[in-house]
Amino acid sequence: MATVVVGGFFGDEGKGKIISYLALKDDVDVAVRGGVGPNAGHTTVYRGVKGKVRMLPSAFVNERTRLMIGAGVLVNPEVLLQEIERFGVKDRFMLDPNCCIIERRHVELDRRGHLKDVIGTTGTGTGPANADRVLRKARLARDVPELEEYLGDVAFEVNRAIDEGKRVLVEGTQGTYLSLYHGTYPYVTSKDVTASAICSDVGIGPKKVGEVVVVFKAYVTRVGGGPLDGELGEEEVRRRGWVEFGTVTGRMRRVAPFNFGLAKRAVMLNSATQVALTKLDVLYPECRGVREFEGLSERAKEFVERVEEELGVPVTLIGTGEESMDIVDRRPTS
Ligand code: GTP
Ligand code: IMP
Ligand code: MG
Repeated sequence: MATVVVGGFFGDEGKGKIISYLALKDDVDVAVRGGVGPNAGHTTVYRGVKGKVRMLPSAFVNERTRLMIGAGVLVNPEVLLQEIERFGVKDRFMLDPNCCIIERRHVELDRRGHLKDVIGTTGTGTGPANADRVLRKARLARDVPELEEYLGDVAFEVNRAIDEGKRVLVEGTQGTYLSLYHGTYPYVTSKDVTASAICSDVGIGPKKVGEVVVVFKAYVTRVGGGPLDGELGEEEVRRRGWVEFGTVTGRMRRVAPFNFGLAKRAVMLNSATQVALTKLDVLYPECRGVREFEGLSERAKEFVERVEEELGVPVTLIGTGEESMDIVDRRPTS
């Protein structure tokens, strides 16, 4: 059965870090990325080395893991080929021939007018490319000669790996409230990004999913336009030490305290079986680097317990630092 990891707020919950931990700790065989495309940015820190990916699965940190991108995902060939080169994953990477290609004109369209000025998109061309895809006038990965050596039947490989009992991780991008269907329309991305959609992107049905991990940060951030309940002023964000900048756009992220209502609804929309909570150490600095639940301070434990109580789902993974392995892992089997 596959494990699906998705974001519970507005993206940038720290999925990259949680996925890199799972890839290493569970020695994942296959990691496959769903979601929109290179509008996403994930940061991993493993053995002191920072890795930023926009196209590759964040599970790349495990050198044994096979890396795939599902048919639903949009590909910018330039970004993808650079990442394959930079991370040296040529021999363990596979791209679905049905992935749709982002062209230069898509990027140009995304960087002006309504999309830039009103929605505040990432400007990476994903919205216009998905529009062309729906109009059925987009090019696919199978039409791009430079990508040919990586093409393979990702849906088939993923299903086979699951059927053989291999460990399969399905990586979502963005976050629940950026979903075109369930998010804060029109301030959303160009597709649904809840767990069901991510499964559809890679070609697995709901019966192939064992665990759904929804990732929340200990506070909420958002980049671009749209509502953000409880949004803090810049001065207050600085005072609390919650300042963040976007991986893809470099924009300063807007910030609000943890939102229990949104989190509860995200658990429902994704049918979460587990919750991962990142950056607990940013809220409670005394927790930095702690890897056992007992080692957390009382106030930090109380916060985790309140999250569990209100959401009705166990908080199994808790982030306490930048490094992939800075995690309190409360899963029963570990
Ligand atoms: P996703 O898009 O959800 O993957 O998040 P992101 O990777 O875009 O977030 P960002 O680019 O802001 O990177 C997150 C940074 O925070 C990375 O450097 C991570 O190593 C770091 N990080 C993740 N989880 C934790 C945590 O629990 N504590 C601390 N201190 N840092 C963390
Ligand atoms: P688009 O996906 O580039 O069209 O952008 C639409 C909205 O989603 C904008 O508010 C973006 O800032 C936001 N967005 C898209 N991808 C991400 C992401 O990976 N992290 C955070 N925000 C994102
Ligand atoms: Mg991100």
